[in-house]
This record gives sequence, structure tokens and C-alpha cells, in this order.
Amino acid sequence: MKNSRMTVRKIRQKKGHDKIVAITAYDYPTARMVDAADVDLILVGDSVGNVVLGYENTLPVTMDEMIHHCRAVTRARPKAVVIADMPYLSFQLSIEEAVRNAGRFVKETGVDGVKLERGVFADAAAAMVRASIPVVGHVGLAPQSLLQIGGYRVRGRRSTEADLIMSEAKALEEAGCFSVVLECIPAKLAVEITEALTIPTIGIGAGAECDGQIQVFHDLFGLGEFAPKHARQYVDLHAAVIEGVRSYASDVRSKVFPGKEETIAE
Ligand code: KIV
Repeated sequence: MKNSRMTVRKIRQKKGHDKIVAITAYDYPTARMVDAADVDLILVGDSVGNVVLGYENTLPVTMDEMIHHCRAVTRARPKAVVIADMPYLSFQLSIEEAVRNAGRFVKETGVDGVKLERGVFADAAAAMVRASIPVVGHVGLAPQSLLQIGGYRVRGRRSTEADLIMSEAKALEEAGCFSVVLECIPAKLAVEITEALTIPTIGIGAGAECDGQIQVFHDLFGLGEFAPKHARQYVDLHAAVIEGVRSYASDVRSKVFPGKEETIAE
């Protein structure tokens, strides 16, 4: 059991020593559970859009929705570092707006930092860092570029694409990011990026050699709409909950619930 808070600095220092364990959470009870399991980093991902809010993808997610979910997570006062995902168009339009939105997360929700997709926005990341906001970069499959790339697919198989991903990762490091997420890229490319950077890489579908791993909570516990190849199912909560609700419904219909124990006699 950890007795002190994780920090961005400690995460950075893990490179080459300890693997970083990261997972998403979008609400108070989930944040409490994952923190009780001693993860290092909780990401309030914009995946909240498709995973929890029922959107088709992450593109419709707004700053206000993200702030709502970040507040719920930080109310759990996790020991883990909490990172807010910058939603689509919250950082792409101008550097000033990018810093203002990143600052909103820090001021209004109490998160420890933010994450943004794509090295082409390294200048926005650098401006956030100048404003003393810790930033995580994200390269490889960037779900906010879904329309342009035409679907969720592995990135970096072709050498031109691999070179681009490498240069984006380096740009984000140069911008002052304290870590970078590598999503859905070949393991060999992830090794090359991990070796080329001095900041830790956190992989999702990027092989075992990254400095850490991140997964979407719902994908590990059977709560996602589909199971990505890179996720392992540890518990099937979907089946367990349906079974539980069926038992409840059956007990109500057969008048077995509530019983004596659940009844206030007087
Ligand atoms: O939004 C998210 O959950 C993410 C992870 C997949 C890294 O960006």
C-alpha cells in the first residue's frame, strides 16, 4: 500500500526502473477502486465519449463534459496522478485557447496535468508547459484524427508513417512533455521510440517494451462495446451485472425481496 501521493516527477523518474501503470476512470467510484489498487496514473480520457456517454467516437466530447468527469475523479482524492484529456478542438485552434483550456482543467478540477494528441501540436504543448502545466503527449493512433485516417487502425507499419510517429514523439519530448502515450503501433517501433526518448513511453497496443501501459477500464472488465485486441479481460462485469440484475428482478417478482433483513420493522 502506497502512503504518499504519486507525482509527475516520480512518473518521469520511473523510466528504466519501474513500469508505469495507468488506467482510465471517468467517475468517483471507479477512481476510488483503481486508486485502491495502487495504479500510478489515472487518465480521464476523452474515450468517456464513446465508452460512457454513448457517442460514436471522441469527437463530440466538450470541455464542459470533460470538466464534469474530471471533477468526479478528483473528488476521490486519488494518490495516483490524474491527467485530463484535452478534447477535440480544445487545443487545435490557437495556442492561447489551448493554454486557457488546459488551465481550466487545473484551476477548475484539480487534475495534475493534461494530455493532448499529435506531435503536430507540440507548440501548444510547449505553451502549456511554459504555463507550468504538466503535459502527456499521445502519438500513433490518434482517435481525434479518426475522420482523416479513416478508422481505428494500427499506425506506423509503413516506414514513412513510422518516421512521422517517431518525429512527433520527439517533438513532444522537446516541447517538455513528461511522458508520451504510444497507441496501436508495432512493438518494434515502440521499442525504437522508447529508446530514443528520455521521457517514459506509455503504451496501449504498442507491445511490452514501453515504459508503462495504459488501458481503458471498461475494456479490462468486459464493459466495452467491443474487445480491442490489445486489452485483456480480467473480469466479465457485464455478465456478472446482468446475472445480478436478473436475480434481483426474480426476487422482486417472487416476493423474496425485500426479506426480513431488508425491512424496517418499525
Ligand atoms: O481517451 C483515452 O482513453 C485515451 C487512452 C486510450 C490512452 O486516450
